[in-house]
Amino acid sequence: MKNPSASVQKLSVFIDALEPEIKRFKSEFQDYLKSGVFVIDQINCFIVRGQGKQFRPMLTFLSAKLVGESSDLTVKSALIVELLHTATLVHDDIVDESDKRRGLPAVKKLWGNKIAVLYGDYLLAHSLTAMLELRDLRVFDILSMTSRRLAKGELVQAAKAKKLDINESVYLKMISDKTAALISAAAELGALTAGGDEVQCEALNLYGENLGMAFQIRDDILDFIGREGLLGKPVGSDLKEGKITLPLIYSLENSQDGIRKEMLRAIRRRKYPKKVIEFVRNCNGSDYAQRKAEGYAQKAADCLNNFKDCQERELLLQMTEFAVRRNK
Ligand code: IPE
Ligand code: IPE
Ligand code: MG
Ligand code: MG
Repeated sequence: MKNPSASVQKLSVFIDALEPEIKRFKSEFQDYLKSGVFVIDQINCFIVRGQGKQFRPMLTFLSAKLVGESSDLTVKSALIVELLHTATLVHDDIVDESDKRRGLPAVKKLWGNKIAVLYGDYLLAHSLTAMLELRDLRVFDILSMTSRRLAKGELVQAAKAKKLDINESVYLKMISDKTAALISAAAELGALTAGGDEVQCEALNLYGENLGMAFQIRDDILDFIGREGLLGKPVGSDLKEGKITLPLIYSLENSQDGIRKEMLRAIRRRKYPKKVIEFVRNCNGSDYAQRKAEGYAQKAADCLNNFKDCQERELLLQMTEFAVRRNK
């Protein structure tokens, strides 16, 4: 195996280690969506060609292989998780009025909001069918709770963006629902479908929850300091949408009343984004958020303490590094 730490900012090391699983996953994902309806198949094709990092399916496979053998059920779980993820992104770009995703135009940009909403629903409906095909109530339990949390997190976020009344604890709960829930499910389902016991499944659930927190905080930092060319989606868009994320929350909470009010006014009017970005920089808001993300990554790593030393455990540890160092 290559030295994983050398490429922790990239996912290539994980792709190499999981080649057969990812290959199978990709082919099932593609087959599963076929509909015979022109517009649906057109979007399917677009989604498959412009696929994302596949971070969640990789987690599912690594968790499975950590406790046993990856099975047909593991592949199906990875498929469901990625279907839910893709549906959320298609909907998220409508809510966030974002025109770019994965280095390409967003689905809503090419096909319009109406088709994009309905296509997202199409993906959700498919994830439901796939869940039932697993014939396992424990899986259904995890995924139905996850879907509820995803929707709740996005709703809370949209409501908070309207009122700008967010603080750190509300933010943390919100990202736990909108992002960590699915990453946690991805990790837990890997273990569950490979015959992991209750303790192992619980440890991987907690690992995924903490990893997901780190992953979203890093995403929110990248919205301030990232590069659009690398990220494949716009930077600065959270601010544009009135989304107050951790770097800004910290900066607002640690500044004088007058400045805080001035910044809130600028955010509310969607004006002077450069000034707000500079304010966050002067307050070291991204450094604070980065430390917080690293704290979650460490917690995630600690959840792996009781697993045997093996390649999968090493790679899951590398995933915690990736979550906080990634630039895309
Ligand atoms: C984007 O997730 C949404 C967040 C939770 C930040 P990813 O960064 O995993 O998106 P893709 O699938 O790689 O495009
Ligand atoms: C994550 O939030 C979205 C979901 C969980 C669907 P963001 O709105 O920050 O995700 P990006 O930045 O658009 O990928
Ligand atoms: Mg978004
Ligand atoms: Mg984002």
